[in-house]
Order: sequence, then structure tokens, then C-alpha cells
Amino acid sequence: MQKIYLDYNATTPIAPSVVEAMQPFLSTHYGNPSSSHSLGRVCHEAIVDAREKVAALLGATPNEIVFTSSGTESNNLALKGVMMQQPLDMGGHLVISGFEHPAIEEPARYLQRLGYGLSMVPCSDEGEVQPEAVEAAIRDDTLLVSIMHANNEIGTLQPIRRIAEICKSHEVLLHTDASQSIGKTRAFVDELAVDLLTLAGHKLYAPKGIGALFVREGIALEPFMHGAGHEAGLRAGTENVPYIVALGEAAKLAFNGMDENTDRMAMLRDRLLGQLSAGIGNKLTINGQHAPRLPNTLSINFPGVNGAELLSRVPEICASTGSACHSSSDARSATLAAIGVNSQTAQGTVRLSVGWYTSEDDVDRAASLLIGAWEAMRP
Ligand SMILES: Cc1ncc(COP(=O)(O)O)c(C=O)c1O
Repeated sequence: MQKIYLDYNATTPIAPSVVEAMQPFLSTHYGNPSSSHSLGRVCHEAIVDAREKVAALLGATPNEIVFTSSGTESNNLALKGVMMQQPLDMGGHLVISGFEHPAIEEPARYLQRLGYGLSMVPCSDEGEVQPEAVEAAIRDDTLLVSIMHANNEIGTLQPIRRIAEICKSHEVLLHTDASQSIGKTRAFVDELAVDLLTLAGHKLYAPKGIGALFVREGIALEPFMHGAGHEAGLRAGTENVPYIVALGEAAKLAFNGMDENTDRMAMLRDRLLGQLSAGIGNKLTINGQHAPRLPNTLSINFPGVNGAELLSRVPEICASTGSACHSSSDARSATLAAIGVNSQTAQGTVRLSVGWYTSEDDVDRAASLLIGAWEAMRP
């Protein structure tokens, strides 16, 4: 059975040239990048090169890039790093949105348990955080606002630039979790005007277990990994050279193909939606349809059926009912709840996400399989 992979928001395949680039660093080039001999220097130079490529993708300078193990770690470093700069007895307050990934919400709740203040800003029914709501949540003791760039489940893009202007006027730092947007749409740190930005390698055709945090020059963070002074003292531990090289190559691919990839994914997404709408009719709805969205994501409510059951009838298709992180739970996702999708409609939600390697044939076959399964199931 030939698989149709429509779960690029859960993870991406590793690009062939990424595998090729990292391979020598799993065998020949095994030196410690901190060693001054030739084997060490090769690895050190490879890290320098990868840092330049990641910086170029974000429009940052190389010294503003910290390599981490994941999007989760980057988010933890951003939130804990900013908040813990300030001793707890001096207060400190954090603002996040009500539909962040657990990799933001959980560190935020941890900081709240420690004693820092936390406010969660709701989003509209279209899946957009309102900048005015962020402004209303900012207090005199607010240190940081963290709002995701693109939502992982419904793909809505947040008005980060406008939120940044508000943060700036209140002298509050802004972090954005761009794990889902990098490689799918433009995400340059100066256009977004953010102070900190998270990138996750495995959403960007690099392996799982590598990520990066952009930290604007001049911003001090409290590290939570203490040891030797790797990554400018922000993330101790001998660098994961093969994976850093992989992320550099993936960043280069994303940078070189940026507009072309975005346009192609949007074309495939619209083709898929067009066919599903033609087969199912106007009872099929899209979450966040009227908001600016990622070019690759469709969060679809299939009318009158259960989304998990629908997917189980089309084993050729690899897709999720929501975020991969919640796929074992039957509960309505926090994102769907946050945008006011009722439980019955949410039962029928399926997330289809295309990517660089999706073909028109994949999309056509997926649409016809899904329509067939839906027709066999509908009441
Ligand atoms: C928006 C968002 N943030 C963070 C993460 C976590 O990234 P990682 O899996 O690299 O820890 C994910 C992964 O699903 C995500 O979608």
C-alpha cells in the first residue's frame, strides 16, 4: 500500500541532502568541536557554517542563534530564561495566548507555580489572538509576552508584528514559537520585530532532536542547563554536531526555496480542499478559514462522522485528527475549544498538512479516499 503522507505539521521527512550533509559527522568527523586539533576544528567550522545558515533563514546574525535539542527546549529557554533573570521576590508576569502548544503552556504554568504571574489571552473564533487583548493583559510587572507565530492544529498566523509594536511601547519582550511557520512561510525576525523566536528542526526537514532559539543581541537570559560555556553560556553540553549540520542544511533549503515552496503548498492545499468540498458539499467546514493561515494546513470538520474513525478507514493516509501530541486523547483539543468549535463538530475534525514532497497525485488520491470513506460512514 503506497502511503500518502499528510502530516507535515507533526513532523517532516528528512530531506535527502540533509541526510547527506550530516553523514560525515556521524563517522569521519568525530572530533569534539571544542578541541583545538584538526578533528575538532572541522566540527567547530561546521557549527559556524550551520549557525550562519540558520541565521540567514531568520534574517538574524549568527551570534543570535542558540542551538538546542528541540522546539520544546527553545521555548523553555525563552520563557524560563527571561522570567528567571529577575529574582522572584521582585515579581514578574508573563502573558501567553490560550491556544499555545504545551511546550509553551507547561513551562508557563511551571513558572506560575514558582510564583510568577501568568495571564492567558483568548483568541477569536477565527483562531487569531487580538493585539488589543494582549495590550489589556500587560501589567506594570510584565516581563515577557509569548504568542505562537502559527497555530499547529489550524494553521492560523498571528499578528505578531502588531503585538510586537504593543510590547515595544510597554518595554516588554516578545517571544514567538515559530516551530510551525519556519519553512512554510516568511518568518524574518526583523519583519516580525520579535526579541526571541523558536525553531524546531523536525518540522523543517531536519531530524528530531534539534532546534534553535533566536535571542536578539543584548537580551540576557538565565540558562537552565549549567556546565561548560557552550552556546555563549546559554546551553551547556558538547554540541550535537551532526544534527546541527543537518539543521544548517535544512535552513539553506528552506531559504533557497522559500517563495516557491509556499506557493506550491498553497496550490496543493487549495486543490485538496476544492476536491473535498466538491465531494462533500457545503457542510464541510474549515477551522480558521477566514484568518491568515499557513499555506499547508487544513483543519477540516467532516460533517456527521468521527474524524478518528474516518482516518482509520483510509490506512493509506497518514494524517491526524489534531496535534500529534494529543492524538492519544479523546478530549476535544484545547485549540478547537479555544476557537469555540463545539464538541460534536470537533469529533469530525481531521488535520491534513501538506509539505515539500507532497504531489498532486497524493492530494487527488487522498481526496477520493476520504470522500469514499465519508460516504460510507455518513448517517
Ligand atoms: C507549535 C509547536 N511548538 C513546539 C513544538 C515542539 O517541538 P519539538 O517537537 O521539537 O519539541 C511543536 C511540535 O509539535 C509545535 O507544533
